[in-house]
Amino acid sequence: MSIDLAVVPVAGRGTRLLPLTKSQPKEMLPVGRKPVVQYVVEELARCGIGRVLFITGPGKTAIENHFDIDAELIALLRETGKEELLAELAFEREDVQYLYTRQRRQLGLGHAVLCAEPVVGSQSFVVALGDSIIGLHAQSRVVRTMIEQFHWQQAEAVVALEEVAPAEVVHYGIAKPRGKPDDVFELDDLIEKPSPAEAPSNLAVAARYVFSARIFHYLRRTPPGVGEEIQLTDAISMLIRDGHKVLGVRLGGGQRRFDIGNFESYFSAFAEFAIADPDYGPALKQRLWELLQR
Ligand code: G1P
Repeated sequence: MSIDLAVVPVAGRGTRLLPLTKSQPKEMLPVGRKPVVQYVVEELARCGIGRVLFITGPGKTAIENHFDIDAELIALLRETGKEELLAELAFEREDVQYLYTRQRRQLGLGHAVLCAEPVVGSQSFVVALGDSIIGLHAQSRVVRTMIEQFHWQQAEAVVALEEVAPAEVVHYGIAKPRGKPDDVFELDDLIEKPSPAEAPSNLAVAARYVFSARIFHYLRRTPPGVGEEIQLTDAISMLIRDGHKVLGVRLGGGQRRFDIGNFESYFSAFAEFAIADPDYGPALKQRLWELLQR
């Protein structure tokens, strides 16, 4: 049976983006015209996902409101002759069912995924981190490829991987490939935030995963790791060590990951998406060019 459920953890406090994130979720920050999490859901819907389970936390209700069908707003736009703006709300009608549960204690990403177990049960599922967009304007199909590989190769987990600069490995889960790393390959291990000297490669986990329900067995047994948090990476590493098949799929063909978790990459993502906007991009590019001449 194909996978149609995605778990989207959005419970993190976004402390690296303070004061921006004091009273609004980082997943609701605008990148060009849309909030981050809308790109994430649109990407998942394009990859065949029909149910999205958000793992939320304190201060995240704006996410739930964003995906509600806002009948009052629709009526107001009709009454005031602004029908053309209704197209901007078309995402509300996406064929997706939304589910929400809370991570009641901030114990890390692995713990957030474990909070999905009562809803997920024995199904296989996708995990998509709510603060990362894959591909310009989220055009990536990598999740679809990952689901296909998961079934075809009868894997227990598949992770998306992206090459990063050697000095950047300290920020990511880093893959140890088994053999030569092609576009799709088996993993020998996965290490969370290693030092450059410890890193077995520069292939970093890129915010998208596919799992069988077996991952819950390992998450329940994962002790706190880096940052005293229960790390998803450590559970995957235990899965591999027990002889289960875990695959890495590289983001191919210009499908970069846009990280909205810190100012440096947030500013850069905003600029890139805004410049690519069909209506406002050309004028912005001109303006930026003028500013750079000063
Ligand atoms: C998390 C994961 C890490 C992964 C990263 C980007 O880290 O723990 O393995 O590489 O997301 O997908 P965080 O950004 O929450 O520190």
